[in-house]
Amino acid sequence: MKRIRIKELLAETTSQPAVTVCGWVRTIRRGKEVAFIELNDGSCLTSLQIVAAPDLAGLDASGLGTGACLTVQGELLPSPASGQTWELRATALTLLGPADESFPLQKKRHSLEYLRSIAHLRPRANTFSAVFRLRSALSFAVHRFFRERGFTYVHTPIITASDCEGAGELFRVTTLDPQAPPLRDGQVDWKADFFAEKTGLTVSGQLEGELCALALGDIYTFGPTFRAEDSHTSRHAAEFWMIEPEMAFADLSDDCALAEDFLRYLVTFALNECGEDLSFFNDRIEPGLIVRLEALATASFAAMTYTEAVERLLRSGKSFEYPVSWGCDLQSEHERFLTEEIIGGPLFVTDYPAELKAFYMRLSDDQRTVAAMDLLVPRVGEIIGGSQREEREEVLRAQMMRKGVSQEALWWYLETRRWGSCPHAGFGLGFERLIMYLSGMENIRDVIPFPRTPGSAKF
Ligand code: 4AD
Repeated sequence: MKRIRIKELLAETTSQPAVTVCGWVRTIRRGKEVAFIELNDGSCLTSLQIVAAPDLAGLDASGLGTGACLTVQGELLPSPASGQTWELRATALTLLGPADESFPLQKKRHSLEYLRSIAHLRPRANTFSAVFRLRSALSFAVHRFFRERGFTYVHTPIITASDCEGAGELFRVTTLDPQAPPLRDGQVDWKADFFAEKTGLTVSGQLEGELCALALGDIYTFGPTFRAEDSHTSRHAAEFWMIEPEMAFADLSDDCALAEDFLRYLVTFALNECGEDLSFFNDRIEPGLIVRLEALATASFAAMTYTEAVERLLRSGKSFEYPVSWGCDLQSEHERFLTEEIIGGPLFVTDYPAELKAFYMRLSDDQRTVAAMDLLVPRVGEIIGGSQREEREEVLRAQMMRKGVSQEALWWYLETRRWGSCPHAGFGLGFERLIMYLSGMENIRDVIPFPRTPGSAKF
């Protein structure tokens, strides 16, 4: 079937005498003189208008309704209708897959909640095809950004025996029989498991990324990460994609500079390459989205320390659900207040209390904060988390001890500090949070095709 995509067809500059298109019917209107079919093939938001004589063979087939799949041959001609350049005068039509009136995506607005319940069909709705095209384009942009800067893409493992963030949120990976696991001294004998130790799905590729940065210089990972975190929020998923660059010979300010360049690059890429889909989001999802993104593409990002952030929150006089004091973990309400109300744009918060952060972050001279940064943006809150890493073996060991992280299990991580250690830094950007930011979509469940959240792994 030699078909042409609708996106390519709509970009034609001259009429085309004979083309074949395939796609799904959005609407069909049958008149006495002529029938109109809006056909969409997912290559772009715009549907192609098919114009057919009422006696065209196949047009009266049962099941030729909204949702049906067709192949149509015809002539591409300038359209007399306003709002479209081209239309296809059909000369032949074949029904590939019928759809009757029970097809759930009839032409009307559906709630996002309802569309989540039909995730197997929602890619055929405009909002979701636009989100998934944006994801695809931005994945490419991620690789292009790092390639242009000489970073090496490394594939870190998905199954791992280490818990990078130390939060105990690993999904267990095992081939043992849960009904009757082998026991040793009354405990599950993990030595008898597939990997001869306790393993899980990775929460972050960072630790392995660091090993590679300490050999290749500048690296990044881009892959799925998993957290068995019982968070029922609109910003947390149990399976999400993360981009994690790691740079040797870099400190926290280099890290912030890279994060700023990266985000600006991605926003500019989306504005330049995904115009049609962004216009749709601007019209239907978040009025003012494009102006907001254009402002970010040129803005310089604000920065303040955690200590200053706490002072600013206290001084604001606002009463929060979670009270603020030095040493408290900033909650989403605090993060959003900082970036939306106090700054009105992207904000790096740096130098968090060591107690709040993972063992691998570099301890500052004050002995109570670490060289950490979170990038907060309006609407989404935290989009990036990163740090300069603790490169001093003895300090690292002491931090691991304080946080109860096994030095024995991470012997390989410690060895990179023993031989040829150097200052290095990196961060993680949550890909879904990025897509939320770029599209204005407010729920993480609506920016990943098949979301995994507590209580839900359908499709
Ligand atoms: O702050 P996090 O936990 O940092 C790390 O995982 C580090 N190892 C990254 C690094 O330094 N290489 O997560 C980083 C980012 C967050 O800022 C957020 O955007 C995203 O990952 N994220 C989530 N996104 C969706 N659902 C979740 N449950 C997420 N948890 C974190």
